[in-house]
Amino acid sequence: MTKTNLLLTALVTFTGAASSLPAQITFSKDVAPIVYHRCASCHRPGEAAPFSLLSYDDVSKHGKLIAAVTAARIMPPWKAEPASYSYRDARRLTDDELNTIQAWVKQGMPKGDPAKAPALPEFTSGWQLGTPDLIVKMDKSFTIPAEGADIYRYLRIPLNLPDDKWVRAIELRPSSRQVVHHVLYFADSTADAQKIEAEEDASKSPMAGMKVNRDMVPLGGVAVGAQPHLLPAGLGLILPKGTDLMFQYHFHPTGKEETEQSTVGLYFAKEAPEHTLISIQLPVAYGLFSGLNIAPGENDFTVRDSFVLPVDVEAVSIGAHAHYIGKTMKMTATFPDGKIKTLLDIKDWDFAWQDRYFFENIILLPKGTRLDSQVSWDNSDNNPKNPSRPPIQVTWGEQTKDEMGAVTLQVFPAVESDFATLHTTYRQHVREIARMRIMQDPSLLVKVRELTGNSDLGKSR
Ligand code: HEC
Repeated sequence: MTKTNLLLTALVTFTGAASSLPAQITFSKDVAPIVYHRCASCHRPGEAAPFSLLSYDDVSKHGKLIAAVTAARIMPPWKAEPASYSYRDARRLTDDELNTIQAWVKQGMPKGDPAKAPALPEFTSGWQLGTPDLIVKMDKSFTIPAEGADIYRYLRIPLNLPDDKWVRAIELRPSSRQVVHHVLYFADSTADAQKIEAEEDASKSPMAGMKVNRDMVPLGGVAVGAQPHLLPAGLGLILPKGTDLMFQYHFHPTGKEETEQSTVGLYFAKEAPEHTLISIQLPVAYGLFSGLNIAPGENDFTVRDSFVLPVDVEAVSIGAHAHYIGKTMKMTATFPDGKIKTLLDIKDWDFAWQDRYFFENIILLPKGTRLDSQVSWDNSDNNPKNPSRPPIQVTWGEQTKDEMGAVTLQVFPAVESDFATLHTTYRQHVREIARMRIMQDPSLLVKVRELTGNSDLGKSR
C-alpha cells in the first residue's frame, strides 16, 4: 500500500482515546513496553519496516502517524478481527494498548524517567527453530529494481530428495530482508519447469507468478515479521521425492536496487504423521465458479459457498486470498446444535498482508457442522486499493486487474480412517459447483481442464 493510502484510511477511521487511563502517560513507563513488544520485531535495523522504533526519539518523531495507523488498525499488520477462537501469536493491539498510545500522543508525548524504561528487546539471530534438517539455497539471485510496482515472482529451489519427507516447518532467510514482503511455499512437481520460468521472465505483468493452474501443493508461507512455526506434533506436509521447492515472492522495491538469494531451512517430521491435512477452500477454486463479474462502481459484490462436514474434523489454521479490491472475508461454522462460531473475519482485506492464522488450540468441528464462507469486493473509485482508475469490469483471473477470492480452512479428520470420506465429499462439492457454472458458461471448461490437471484440487497433505 502506498503511504497516501495508509494515511487516508488512517484518517477516515481515526478514533479518540478512552478516559480510564493514568493521568500522566510516559514513554518510559507505559509506551516503550508496548512498542518493544508489538512493533520492534519489524521496526528495527535489518528488518522490513521503513524505520526503527527502539528509542524515545524514534517513536516521538513518528508520533502522530503512529497514533493514526494504530487507531485504524493498519499497524501492527494483522487483518483478522477477534473471532470465536484465539489465534497463535496474534499481533493485534489490545484496547488498553491502543488507548495508551492514543492518550500519550494527545498529551504531547512526555518521555518520563528513562530509568523506568524496560530493557531493549533481544532478538534471536540465526535459525529461529534450531538447526534445520536440511538447508538449501537459491542457485541464482534475483534482482529487484530500486523503483516501480511491487513484483510477484516464483523462484525455484531444486531439492533432489531421495525419499518422501514430511515438513513441520520452513524457515526462510532472505539475503535482503528489506525487499521481501511475503513468501508462499509450495512443493512443485511441474514437469516443464524451465518453460514456466521462461514465461515468467518474458512476462511484463507484476502478477505473472500468481497462476493457480499448476501442479503445486501449498506448504504455508511467511509474511514480513512473522516467526516460523512448527506444525503441532503428529502433523506434517508431504514433500514427495522428486519435487522442487517453489517460492512465490512478493517483493517491495526499497529505493535502491537489491538482489535476493534466499537460504531456506527445512524441519522434517521424524516419521510419517498420524494425521493427513486437507484444505477446505470456500468458495472452491478461488471463486472460479462463483460467477465473479464485478461492474465498475459496484462496492459490495459478494459470493458465498457452504460445505457440510461429513466427518468429525480438527481445524488447525485459516487463511484468505483475494487480489487488490477484495474487501471482506468471513468463515463461520454452524454446529449441529445450531451454535454459530466465527473462524475468520477480515473487514478490511489488504493484499499486502496475507497471513495464515493458526488457532491457539486445535478446534474440533463435529460431523454435520456447516462451514459458510463469504467474500466481498469493492470495485468503486472510493477503494484506494483499486488498481484500475477509473474502475473497469472485473472478472476471475490471475492478473493484477482480475480478481479471485476464497477462505481456506486447514483441517485433518479426527479419525484418520475418515480421510477418504472427507476428501471425496469435498471433491464432489467442487465438481457440483463446477458443473452448475459450466452449464451457464461453457467457456469455463477450458479453465477447469487446466485446474483439474492439478494433482489434487484442494488437497494439501
Ligand atoms: C509485521 C511487521 C510489522 C510490525 C509488527 C509493525 N510494523 Fe509498522 N510497518 C511495517 C512495514 C513493512 C511498513 C511499511 C509499509 C507497509 O509495507 O505496509 C510499516 C509502516 C509503518 C508506519 C508508516 C506508515 C506510513 O504511512 O508511512 C508506521 C507509523 C508504523 N509502521 C508503525 C507501527 C507501530 C506503531 C507498530 C506497533 C504498534 C508497528 N508499526 C508494527 C511492518 C510492521
